[in-house]
Amino acid sequence: MSATKHDKIQHHYDSIADVYDHHYDHHRGRSYHTHISSQLMRPLPRGGRLLDIGCGTGLFVEKFILNGGTAIGLDISGKMLSRACHRCPTSEFILGTGEKIPFHDSSFEAVASLLAFSYVKDPHAMLTESYRVLKPGGVISICTLGKKLLTRGIPTLYQLGEMMKVKHLVMKDFGEHYYDKNEMTGLFTEAGFLDVNVSWCSFAHIDMIDPLFNFAQKVEPFVEKRVPQLAYNICVSGKKPRE
Ligand SMILES: C[S@@+](CC[C@H](N)C(=O)[O-])C[C@H]1O[C@@H](n2cnc3c(N)ncnc32)[C@H](O)[C@@H]1O
Repeated sequence: MSATKHDKIQHHYDSIADVYDHHYDHHRGRSYHTHISSQLMRPLPRGGRLLDIGCGTGLFVEKFILNGGTAIGLDISGKMLSRACHRCPTSEFILGTGEKIPFHDSSFEAVASLLAFSYVKDPHAMLTESYRVLKPGGVISICTLGKKLLTRGIPTLYQLGEMMKVKHLVMKDFGEHYYDKNEMTGLFTEAGFLDVNVSWCSFAHIDMIDPLFNFAQKVEPFVEKRVPQLAYNICVSGKKPRE
């Protein structure tokens, strides 16, 4: 990751760490996050040791350990990690980037990453590193920004918002990448993963106005299955071969 982009993302998350959970762990934010988390969780083993890349304040680590596993969180923001340590005092949290994972080969049964992959400058590096630290037979599950009908205009909107100094928790231009199915499948396959599965997730987006959000939540399962081009996020899983 270039120093400037890395620093901008890190400073941003350091500066919002204390309010992040008000956004994603309350009311609509909580149901949005829980919805994405359960889709991310689906292919993962119940139990075993998980690495959560871009773990933020530990929301997904908490869910994984409630299912009986152990988890380590990795993130570039020290302040987000401090919140995560408060949330999950028995888990370990490490400062670092997903593009250079500070663990030995074959250390984890599972790797997950929720709403962080789109920030990563070198996605190939993050996936080959994830492959390296997974044990044979281990599973990776990633949910990130999908390139779809409703997300096409978002980067321009964020650029405009930043130019006009709009104050919004995540409405900043970080040059995030929006992924489509072919790109994700190609990246996972190149890194060596098998059984690559792609699905679409979240029509009820947290930034919708209230009445729209409530309606979107009701029709979300139908949209995800039948009109996936309206979903905001893409979820991809794969398996490291057993050798
Ligand atoms: C939108 S937050 C998601 C946090 C958490 N996964 C969640 O679901 O609440 C994105 C997180 O990714 C982290 N991040 C961004 N780029 C990263 C990288 N290259 N390696 C590790 N973490 C990164 C940020 O610091 C931030 O905590």
